[in-house]
Amino acid sequence: MTLTALGISASPRANGNSDLLVREALRGCEEAGAQTEFLRLGDYRIGACTECNTCQKTGVCVLQDDYQGILDRLLEVDRLVFATPVFFMAVSAQAKLFIDRGQALWARKHLLHLPLFQPRRDRRAMVVAVGGSRSTRQFDGIRRTMQSYFECVEIAYVSTLFVNQVDAAGAVRRHATALPEAFRLGAALADAASPAQRATQVELFG
Ligand SMILES: Cc1cc2nc3c(=O)[nH]c(=O)nc-3n(C[C@H](O)[C@H](O)[C@H](O)COP(=O)(O)O)c2cc1C
Repeated sequence: MTLTALGISASPRANGNSDLLVREALRGCEEAGAQTEFLRLGDYRIGACTECNTCQKTGVCVLQDDYQGILDRLLEVDRLVFATPVFFMAVSAQAKLFIDRGQALWARKHLLHLPLFQPRRDRRAMVVAVGGSRSTRQFDGIRRTMQSYFECVEIAYVSTLFVNQVDAAGAVRRHATALPEAFRLGAALADAASPAQRATQVELFG
């Protein structure tokens, strides 16, 4: 059966470093035989969670915008590549808007005790983050946020690619190893034969 992989870029900058790295990871997924799709959160209308807490009773978000369609795709696929630039040591606003809307799923699972997948599926995710500064700590928060979100959407966090000192749009093209690493990790992500529990961290810190 052909695996499906979704690449999501949460950068507001089209064709920037996050977009390039996700596309390269998806090329790797295709090389491994997966069928892929790419989207940019910035191209969609996604409102902020208003903490109305209606979802605590229904398990569904009341806001009507483009969020639900993207979530449906995310829940369908076998593999996910999620990329964000580092903005003030955290994920981008576009990423956070999307992630916070996951609260309805959290409520569904933890308050209403409705399982997301029955039986649980072999779903795996990779996180890509890119920052302009020399800091090597700027990815700490992103790692935790994504771990928490992936638990919510029941997808195993199997690999990360963090790249620092990449700032200008497209500067990652001039990085010696970032794009080849994205391709390699993408191919590994879509390799159904590799063990799901093996976490791979690639930190390209100059
Ligand atoms: C609002 C804003 C906040 C940023 N904050 C950080 C930061 O905390 N640390 C860092 O290393 N780079 C920071 N940067 C730089 C971006 O992470 C960097 O330019 C990155 O390559 C952008 O990726 P993109 O092309 O995918 O959008 C910031 C940029 C912007 C616009």
